[in-house]
Amino acid sequence: MQANANQNGRGLWGSRFAFVLAAAGSAVGLGNIWGFPTAAAQNGGGGFVLIYILCILLVGLPVMLAEMVIGRAGEKNPVGALQHLKPGTPWYLVGALGVVTGFVILSFYTVIAGWTVFYFIQAAGGALTVPEGEDSAAYFSEMFGSMTANPGYEILFVAVFMIATISIVAAGVRKGIERSVKIMMPLLFLLLALLIARSVTLEGAGAGLSYYLVPDFGAINREVIVMALGQAFFSLSLGMGVMITYGSYLRKEECLPSSAGYVVTADSLIAIFAGLIVFPVIFFMAATQGANADELVAEGPGLVFVIFPQILSELPGGAAATTIFGAAFFLLLAIAALTSAISLLEVVTAHFVDDWKIPRKKAAWGLGAIIFLLAIPSALSMGAVDWLSADGVFGVSFFDLLYMLTFQLFLPLGALGLAVFVGWAWGLKKASEAIQTGTPNFRLEKLWQFMIRYVAPIAIAVILAAQFIDIFGGDADEKPAEEPARTEPAEGA
Ligand code: TRP
Repeated sequence: MQANANQNGRGLWGSRFAFVLAAAGSAVGLGNIWGFPTAAAQNGGGGFVLIYILCILLVGLPVMLAEMVIGRAGEKNPVGALQHLKPGTPWYLVGALGVVTGFVILSFYTVIAGWTVFYFIQAAGGALTVPEGEDSAAYFSEMFGSMTANPGYEILFVAVFMIATISIVAAGVRKGIERSVKIMMPLLFLLLALLIARSVTLEGAGAGLSYYLVPDFGAINREVIVMALGQAFFSLSLGMGVMITYGSYLRKEECLPSSAGYVVTADSLIAIFAGLIVFPVIFFMAATQGANADELVAEGPGLVFVIFPQILSELPGGAAATTIFGAAFFLLLAIAALTSAISLLEVVTAHFVDDWKIPRKKAAWGLGAIIFLLAIPSALSMGAVDWLSADGVFGVSFFDLLYMLTFQLFLPLGALGLAVFVGWAWGLKKASEAIQTGTPNFRLEKLWQFMIRYVAPIAIAVILAAQFIDIFGGDADEKPAEEPARTEPAEGA
């Protein structure tokens, strides 16, 4: 039976563990460690966390399983898999949307990923220690500005990060992706544990934890719910076929429902843990320097790159503590970003390998180069080039335009398409059968069927409609700007 899956010359994971690790690597990314705490902070803390968990259980988990089974049964990338399962119908267009979305997400994702590389180098070199007599806020604003406003730096770090991503994908599923996640994921867990241990023992940590974890039901409103669902998709890498593609390299006799469960659990725990790092640190600053915690929490995009380093520089233990804690934090971000970026490039690459018969190495390098070119305007839209930045393109920066399009439109649309595909077009019976090749007694079958056929599509459609109104509707000036709209960091310049 293994020979069967190899027949068409496609790679296979060495084990189910490798598949789960790679899928978790895709899910755990900037969206968890940067996006989640920021979104939680700006949407009222504990209440948001609660809604987020509900979204994960009601929509995230069922869609995750749906994607995995489409991939394994379709044995291809999203376009090829849907074509295979429903030949001669336009359903492959949902897959095509996924491939396009992969292109676009990766092009702006690498920009932020490049920043993490820059900051890791800064931190490791001791640059997070503020020189004697300088104002720390100004110092870090300038550090951030010197990077974002410098076209050379912006492009250099995107290039460094893209080359790492491409090299891994070009090396193949087993020798590239599997091998790299087996090294990077344990390192990620280790760094995370180290950072949490430091964070929760800081002065003021208690106030941070209670802001973060005690739900304030009064703060829950429509917008919080919309944000929580969007965050859940992005964080779980759902809606564009990452799990389809990764699932296509899995053997028929492996268990899918528990794999989906592990990936979802790992992703949510890490998002929640990231908050355990960020919130105590913010409230430490409030406790020790009289800073206003509410204001810091509202800071948003600048949080990780401007406020956070400022706080790191004040850690007890002096310059050494700052260097170690800072380097560990930005290394964690860079690793998380890399294991996510490879999944994005893999979807695009697999499409050209499967459906256009282009050799993997050529496809990965060629597509990676195109994505790199597409990343340049995003990189330059952080202040380096005026007409791309701030409100230059349709009232937002080029980066924000791509980010909003994917996060608020393409991903939910893709997830909706996939849920309807499984629930109504391909059919629950066939989907269940394909799951049962690895899980003969699939205990939650009926529940999953109900969720994927009714609950998930309806919930997504409602959210999509809400976002549609947000984006194209009336009050243009209070658009999604507060939400990880990653461009306008805290500098007052
Ligand atoms: N999930 C990753 C994060 O949290 C980002 C990501 C990787 C992604 N692949 C994706 C998001 C596919 C949406 C779709 O940072």
